[in-house]
Formats: sequence, structure tokens, C-alpha cells
Amino acid sequence: MKICVIGAGYVGLTAGACLSEIGHNVICVDNDKVKINNLKKSIMPFFEPELFEIVSSNLKRRSLSFSLDISDAIKKSDVCFIAVGTPQKADGSCDLSSVFDVAKQIGKSINGYKLIVNKSTSLIGTTEKIKKIIQLETSSDIDVIVNPEFLSQGSAVKNFLKPDRLIIGATSQRAIEIFKKIYSPLLISSERFVVMDEKSAEMTKYASNIFLATKISYMNEIANLCEKVGANINNVKLGMSYDNRIGDKFLNSGIGFGGSCFPKDIEAILSLAKEFNCNLDIVSSVGLVNKNQRKIFLNKILNKFNNNIPNKVFSIWGLSFKPDTSDVRCSPSIDIISFLLDCNAKINVYDPKANNNIKDMFKDKISYFDNPYEALQNADALIILTDWKEFLSPDFNKIKTLLKTSIIFDGRNLYDKNYLLSLGIEYFGIGV
Ligand code: UGA
Repeated sequence: MKICVIGAGYVGLTAGACLSEIGHNVICVDNDKVKINNLKKSIMPFFEPELFEIVSSNLKRRSLSFSLDISDAIKKSDVCFIAVGTPQKADGSCDLSSVFDVAKQIGKSINGYKLIVNKSTSLIGTTEKIKKIIQLETSSDIDVIVNPEFLSQGSAVKNFLKPDRLIIGATSQRAIEIFKKIYSPLLISSERFVVMDEKSAEMTKYASNIFLATKISYMNEIANLCEKVGANINNVKLGMSYDNRIGDKFLNSGIGFGGSCFPKDIEAILSLAKEFNCNLDIVSSVGLVNKNQRKIFLNKILNKFNNNIPNKVFSIWGLSFKPDTSDVRCSPSIDIISFLLDCNAKINVYDPKANNNIKDMFKDKISYFDNPYEALQNADALIILTDWKEFLSPDFNKIKTLLKTSIIFDGRNLYDKNYLLSLGIEYFGIGV
């Protein structure tokens, strides 16, 4: 099938590359000239496992191409996926202007029947609006459906090619059949392919993301109490996880969630609820607990040094908002670094993939290292902010030798407190 994917961000580029991988002919469009020119040469705009391999192999096979010409791409395609950004406005609400601009462009360029699939995380009612915008520009026959994307950064390719579920909001049988045909190579079982009305599909995306964020904030609150009463959140988590009704995912406490989705989605849904005069007390608490979690972590650092951290040197391991990505959007590392800099502390950082993205923000205010151990030289403490696999079992003796004082603040609960204490390393985790 001939498909164009409009927007070459995490969702669009992954979707475009994976759709070409399963046999379709895909044009990925974006209005960022540098990004498109680089992608034509297989130069990736961000790090995402396995993505480079499938982009370059499908470019070679000519089943994937990149273009700046949205109108041409629409004309050449039977199906158009919308995967542009829906950032947060200053008041917290969801900025849908890029989605609506694309809808207008589709309307202007259309040259016959098209199926339009919206994958951008969009507020409830957006599918309907997209359809109206297109129909203002053309009398061509179209179907507009919504297909929320549930892939996670760091495992995006795997998630796309082996999805837990496929959800579409669609009423047209013709659209449903075309969509099924596109995804048929993924062999998803029929009970995991769910068709519903558009608004419910749009809500499912927000409800899922915010539910996951709720699990994290809940565990962080319990972790904070564990610390006060002398319990260990790692044991509590293990005990809870054997209950099938609870499960073992998204129960890790730490410095809270970041990324371009959870924080933004919470604000968007709160802003929508306000419009409808509807209280969402749990949702607003999830966001507050998350912000507070960073402060609680920073207080541990301040307390340890008796509020005296000017000129103290901190070595930070991990800058990305989660492992296996170079993305630092809304990453806890930004808040932690900003606070420590405001206190005139000195910062050395190491991240396997995200150093450059943090450098764009903090420039020469902090020091960047390509090796985790080099970042420890003469530091007063090590601070762990991302649970990269390579941090799981480091050489603790080397850490102890290189640090000026053997202290670890572990924002991801990677290490066993008693073991570190037995090595003579002072350890501060979350809820342990
Ligand atoms: C999230 C959802 O998990 C995806 O299903 C969704 O498609 C995506 O948002 C989106 O809307 O585009 P993502 O933001 O890539 O995916 O990352 P997550 O794995 O959900 O992690 C989010 C944050 O929660 C990270 O900062 C992570 O460190 C933190 N986290 C995660 C915890 O603090 N504890 C946990 O137990 C799990």
C-alpha cells in the first residue's frame, strides 16, 4: 500500500520505517529541512534502538523515502498518517495547531479517496475536527480515523512491530478494512485489535498514559513513607508485584517520571477537564507528587552537606529521561542540574547518549565526560538519574577510589543499600 507519514518525530519516523519494513511503500514528510536531508543519508535525528537499521535498509530497498513536499506525498498515497507534535501551551492545554495545519494541507492536496489516520496524541474530539477542516477544502471522498500510538521511546521499534494492542476510533467499515490490511503482517489477534468510536479511542490514549504515571506517583508516595517508617520499597514492590491484579510494571520509585508524554498529557487532560467543569483530583495529584519527588531528592543532597553545597562537585550519571534514548525532554536531570547550579555547585555529567542534548541547554556551565569513571574525579558525590543498563553493576571499588567522599545519591534505586554500606559507601536511595 502507498502510505505517507506526516511528521518524522519519534512516532512518525518509527511508524514510517516500520510500515515500510512490513511491506508498504512509505514517504515520510517533515518540514525540517536539515532533518529530512539527513534522513535521506540515514543520519538519525535521535537515538532509538534498531531504528537506524530499518531506516537504512528500507531506504536502500526504496520502500522508504523522505520528502519536504507534503502535497506531493499526499497525492502519491492511498493512506496518510498524521504524526506531528502536539506540544503543551503556556496554560497547559494541548496545542493542536500543527495537526490542524496538516489537515488543511491534506484538504488542499487531495486528489481522490484517502484514508487519513491520526496518530498524534490529540485531545478528545480532534478526529471530528480534522474531518471538518479537510472537508472545508475538498469535496473528495475521505475517511478520517484515529489510531493512538502506544510505543515507548527506547523500545519503539519493538513496540510498533509487536504491539500489545491496536486501537482505532472509526465508524466507516471501509476505513476499518483498509487499516486492517495495512497492519495484517503484524498478525495481531482479533481480541487485541479493538475498534471503537473516535472519542473513546482518543480518551484511551490519555487514560492509559496517565494511569501509568499514576502507578509511578503512587509508588513514590509509598516509598517516601517507607523511608520514614523503616520499610524498604524494593521489598514492598516485589511483594505487590506477585498479585496479578497489580502486575510488576511501572512500580519503580525514584525521582519521578519525565519525557515528552506523561507530564504533558496530565496537563492537557486537566485543562480539558477544567473546560468541562470536571474535577480530576487523582490526576492533579499525580503531577504534584511527581514535581515534589525531585525536591525530596534534592533535600537529601542538601541535608547531607548541611545546606552547604557551593563549590561542591557532583558527578551525575544519566541525563536522558529514561534509558535507551537520547531524549532529555522534561527529564528530571534538567531540574536537578538547574537547582545544583543555582546553589553554585560544580557538575560533571556522563550519559551514554544524551550528553549533546543536555549540552544544548547548559552549554559550558557544566563539564561533560565520555566515560562514567572520568566524570567521578574529585567529586563529592555520585548522583544517579537514569537507569541505563551500564550503571547496574559498576566497579564500586573504582567509584570509591575516584570520589573525594564515597557518597551515592541513587535516584533510580539501582543498588543495594546494605551492600554499598558494607563497602564503605554512604548510600541514599528512595524509600530504602
Ligand atoms: C509513554 C508510554 O509508556 C507509552 O505507552 C506512550 O505511547 C508514550 O508515553 C507516548 O505517549 O508517546 P515514554 O514516555 O516513552 O512512553 O516512556 P515510559 O517508559 O512510559 O517512561 C516515562 C517515565 O516514567 C520515564 O521518565 C521513566 O523513567 C519513568 N518511570 C517508568 C518510572 O519512574 N518508574 C517506572 O516504574 C516506570
